[in-house]
This record gives sequence, C-alpha cells and structure tokens, in this order.
Amino acid sequence: MSYGLLKGKRGIVFGALNDQSIAWKVAERAHEEGASIVLTNAPIALRMGEINKLAEKCGNTKVIGADATSLEDLEKLVDESQEHLGGKIDFVLHSIGMSLNVRKGRGYTDLDYNFLQKTYDISSVSFHKLMQTLMKKDAMNDWGSILALTYIAAQRVFPDYNDMAEAKALLESYARSFGYHFGEQKKVRVNTISQSPTMTTAGSGVKGFDAFFNYAEDMSPLGNAPALDCANYCISMFSDLTKYVTMQNLFHDGGFSNTGVSRKIMEKFM
Ligand SMILES: NC(=O)c1ccc[n+]([C@@H]2O[C@H](COP(=O)([O-])OP(=O)(O)OC[C@H]3O[C@@H](n4cnc5c(N)ncnc54)[C@H](O)[C@@H]3O)[C@@H](O)[C@H]2O)c1
Repeated sequence: MSYGLLKGKRGIVFGALNDQSIAWKVAERAHEEGASIVLTNAPIALRMGEINKLAEKCGNTKVIGADATSLEDLEKLVDESQEHLGGKIDFVLHSIGMSLNVRKGRGYTDLDYNFLQKTYDISSVSFHKLMQTLMKKDAMNDWGSILALTYIAAQRVFPDYNDMAEAKALLESYARSFGYHFGEQKKVRVNTISQSPTMTTAGSGVKGFDAFFNYAEDMSPLGNAPALDCANYCISMFSDLTKYVTMQNLFHDGGFSNTGVSRKIMEKFM
C-alpha cells in the first residue's frame, strides 16, 4: 500500500545486491511512495547485473557504480545523482557491510589487521566519507534524512560477528557525531537502524547464522523483523513525519534488545 510519503523527494540508495538485500526493498518501497531515486553499488556488485532488474522496477532509474571507500567515486556519484534527479537530495540509505576477516574465516582472536582496516573502511568510514562529500557539495536539501543499517553486536557480544562488531560501533558513532554537524548546519538528520538478523548475502556470511537467526526469533516477543518491514521503517525515517529524530540508534528488532529472556528460550532449559 502506498501513502505517498516520499512524493517529490529525491534519494540515493546504496547496497542493493539482489532481491534479498534490505536496500532492494527500500528502493522498491521508496519508488512506491513517490520518490525518484538513484541506485548505487560497488562496480564489482554491478557486474552481477541483478540491480538492473531493480532499476527497471523503479521507473527505469539510473544505476551509478561507486566504491563507497573511494572519495572520487562518491564525488562523482553525488554530482551525477543531482544531475539525473534534477536537484538536491532529500534522503540517502547506506546499506553496506563487509568483513574480509569473516569471509576468510579469521576469528576474532586471530584477526588479520589489513583485513580489519578494510572492514572499517568499507563498513564504517565510508559513511563518514559519504556524509562529508554530501556536506562539502551542499548536496542535501534542508530537513533531509540520512540512514545507515547496523546490528546490536555494536552493544552486546555476539562472538562470531567478529570485527563487524567494532565496525558497527564506529558506524553508530559517526551517525551521532556527523548528525550533530549536519543538523546544526543544514537541518539534516542522521540515524542508524539496528535491524534483526535477516536472511541476506551479508547476513548469512556470519558463521552459524541460522542458529543466530532462530535464537533471535525466539527471544523477540514480536519475532525477527523482516526486511520489508525494515524498509517500511526506513521510509518513515525518510518522510516528513520524523523531522526531529536525529543522532539516534533505532532498534528495529521485534523487542529483542530489551528482552532479558523469553518464555520460548526458558522452555528449552526446563
Ligand atoms: N542481514 C542481516 O542480518 C543484517 C542485520 C542488521 C544489519 N544489517 C546491515 O544491513 C546492511 C545491508 O546488508 P544486507 O543484509 O542487505 O546484505 P547485502 O549483502 O545484500 O548488502 C550488503 C551490500 O554492501 C555492498 N558493498 C560491499 N562493499 C562495498 C563497497 N566497497 N562499496 C559499495 N558497496 C559495497 C554489497 O555490494 C552489498 O550490496 C549492512 O550494513 C548490514 O551489516 C544486516
């Protein structure tokens, strides 16, 4: 169902790899709600070609390749997006995460530090680079909204989430710190949404993801939040209905973050 919440707004959506990606659902919902969007992903991800199907569904919109760690790519993306969309940007979704330590099976007590730098650069520093580029180019409209996706391993220990835990802590910190400056200078709000475990390419890369997913499902009074509902939350955060929410980490997790133990979990030990 469409409410026209983003009618006339312009946005950039990072991170739609395939139709399981949270960003994919955000792009579809943003289009349904009346926004014009540009899609972007790392050049290597574009080669899979899936994103072109999404572009077609979203009104034959433009796809612009950008490695989110490259300032040059981000500058080009921001310029071309404004050109294509015909004005300044109202909302941006950062839906990017990757750890080479996770990918290559290096555990938390055996990290490769070159990989660690890459984890931070891709999963966290890219968010600062993106916001700095948007600010320097004065590319955001007043009362715009910028979001990144995160996970509760930034606050609690999940042993196999590995170096992504610190990457998410840094990402959330950037939302607070940059949110201050963007708010003061441009009335732009910056937040992170902390999402339930979700069956996507990035999610299922984490060791033991199925157990992780099922445990969270049983611990959350509402159950795990699906990707589409995460997209709906993003849409509300891009809309004018949430203009004074900024510098927050917002849990979208069916109640997991505030549950000590659930009856379902208790029953497994009785
Ligand atoms: N899936 C989960 O369980 C879960 C839970 C909470 C938060 N998140 C977060 O949601 C976000 C989206 O992940 P997803 O689960 O939809 O998985 P996904 O694998 O579909 O998306 C991750 C995206 O990051 C992109 N990416 C990687 N390196 C990049 C680079 N250098 N430049 C630009 N893009 C790059 C990938 O191409 C991919 O599109 C991530 O930040 C992830 O950490 C996921």
